[in-house]
Amino acid sequence: MTADPTKTTADMPRVSHAATLPAFAAPELALIVPTFNERGNLREVLRQVAAALGDVSWELIFVDDSSPDGTAALAQEIGREDPRVRCIHRIGRRGLSGACIEGFLATSAPIMAVMDADLQHDATLLGRMLEKLRATNADLVIASRYSDGGSATAGFSKFRGFASRLSTAIARLATGVAVTDPMSGYFMIRRAAFVPLAPGLASEGFKILFDILATARGKLKIEEVTYSFSARQEGASKFDTQNILDFLGLILSKMSGGVVPVRFLSFALIGSAGIVVHLAALGVLTASGFTFGKAQAAAALIAMTSNFYLNNLTTYRDRRLKGLAAVSGLFMFYVICSIGFLSNVGAASYLFIHSVDRYIAGFVGSLIGAVWNFTLSNMIMWRK
Ligand code: GDD
Ligand code: MN
Repeated sequence: MTADPTKTTADMPRVSHAATLPAFAAPELALIVPTFNERGNLREVLRQVAAALGDVSWELIFVDDSSPDGTAALAQEIGREDPRVRCIHRIGRRGLSGACIEGFLATSAPIMAVMDADLQHDATLLGRMLEKLRATNADLVIASRYSDGGSATAGFSKFRGFASRLSTAIARLATGVAVTDPMSGYFMIRRAAFVPLAPGLASEGFKILFDILATARGKLKIEEVTYSFSARQEGASKFDTQNILDFLGLILSKMSGGVVPVRFLSFALIGSAGIVVHLAALGVLTASGFTFGKAQAAAALIAMTSNFYLNNLTTYRDRRLKGLAAVSGLFMFYVICSIGFLSNVGAASYLFIHSVDRYIAGFVGSLIGAVWNFTLSNMIMWRK
């Protein structure tokens, strides 16, 4: 008898290991803790987590982006003392959302949670979140700062408190989900619910939960528990204005069904600011006696240069070009923007000749130029 070619090894009877292992060889809960310069908090996080989880079977995964303070090395040292602790050490990458996604995808545990490393998230909540998840059969349990009894802004400055409330309101509109704290950085999710969403998530930015909600489009069964957000104990927050831009870019991206990339908003805003730089330079140069033609050309170079550096600092800070790469990137940027400028003027003139309103023609031309500049810069200088 010849071997049946339709049968693969997957069809052969397998030796079962199940009998020799406990029902859950993998821990039931994986706690993902993203870190950037959190050395001083790691041991305390572990102590609080262990105390909070009692006899639950868990693992803790620190995801560190090569913090200069050596967080990863300490996390590994702790991992050698306590096998429940692991560290994913990422190089050449930055970003809270991406770190969380990578942590989630690196565990086999059926239930996963994210918690900050700075002790602003009350670890004793983990037990309550897990109970709620099991009892209600929910896909997602959010530790919410905003429901009755929770305190929203204790750990925040006035400005951060305001920004937080505003973005929460926008996020509720954008996700169409009525959760009280769509911007929470503290939540628990079943891997079965997370994994199908993962390919649609953006790795840029801070707002992983918002992204999960927006990507799931109301399909998750959600529960909430409340807590009060406390002040940071050690180190400093990594939240900055760029995160607000990333967030607005993410909303735009989600509302466009993924057509507009997350970074486009930041890129376009810098481009608009470039017009101001251009006009200011033009004013200074003509006032100091340059002919208009020369002043205009120099102002354009200055504006492109400042746009390049601003994008390198903010829009693409996770892919920042340094040294020689920054210099050649700048020259490439000049070339790309010049072509972008020609297509802008070409398209706008075409529309104008075909009796489109001059402002609409001008706007469409600028948009085409911006999309060109963005797409090419994204593909050439700042590609992944
Ligand atoms: N791996 C990695 N990479 N970790 C990061 C990065 C990064 O680029 N940036 C920040 N982290 C880690 C920090 O070390 C900390 O453990 C956690 O992510 C949160 O960062 P913070 O800088 O402390 O953020 P925050 O307190 O201003 O904001 C947090 O709380 C908000 C309210 O719940 C975040 O969790 C927000 O997402 C959340 O909205
Ligand atoms: Mn924090």
